[in-house]
Amino acid sequence: MAHTLPDLPYPYDALEPSISKEIMTLHHTKHHQTYVTSLNAAEAAYAKASTPKERIALQAALKFNGGGHINHSLFWKNLAPQPAKGGQGGVLKPGPLKDAIELAFGSLEKLQKEFNAVTLGIQGSGWGWLGYNITSKRLELATTPNQDPLLHLVPVIGVDIWEHAFYLQYKNVKADYLTAIWNVINYEEAERRLAEAVSTSKL
Ligand SMILES: [Fe+2]
Repeated sequence: MAHTLPDLPYPYDALEPSISKEIMTLHHTKHHQTYVTSLNAAEAAYAKASTPKERIALQAALKFNGGGHINHSLFWKNLAPQPAKGGQGGVLKPGPLKDAIELAFGSLEKLQKEFNAVTLGIQGSGWGWLGYNITSKRLELATTPNQDPLLHLVPVIGVDIWEHAFYLQYKNVKADYLTAIWNVINYEEAERRLAEAVSTSKL
C-alpha cells in the first residue's frame, strides 16, 4: 500500500514564533511530500525488480526516502503549540518522563544544553535525538546523518537539523533554532513514546 503524507496535528502557523508558518508549510507540503513520493516510487520499482543487482541499486533510495518519511512523521508529532496558542508545547509536567530526564541528565535544562551541543556537532544534515536505551533502561542522546532513522534507541524526541528546517527564519544560526525549538517540544508525546518503549522492554 502506498505511503501518504500525514496531516499536521496543528495549523501551519501554530508553532510561531519558534518555527514560522512559511517553514512549516514548505517543510510539510514540499519536503516531506517529496520523501513520501520518492519512497513510493522506490518501493514500486523494487517490486518490479527481477535481479539482485536491480534490487541493490534501489537500496540508497529506499533508505533515504524511507528514513525521511519515518523521521518527519515523528517530528511533526513531537512538536506542539505553546499554551498561549492552546497547546502544551514546551511544558514538561511531573511524571515518568521528567523522572527519566532527571535520572539521566540531572535536569531538563542540562538535557537541553547537552542535546543542543551534540546536535550542533552534526556535520552537514542530520537529526538530533533523545532516545530510550532498552538495555540500560535509560534515556540517551544520539545523532544520525542524512535521513538515517534512529535504530539503536527508541526515539523519544527528534529534531531535524537540515537547513530546510530552519534556514528561512534563523539563517546560519543553528544554535538559535535549537534554543527556540524547546519552546514547542511536545513532552506529552515524548512521555507516551517513553511509556511504550518501557512496556516493550519489559516483554
Ligand atoms: Fe526536514
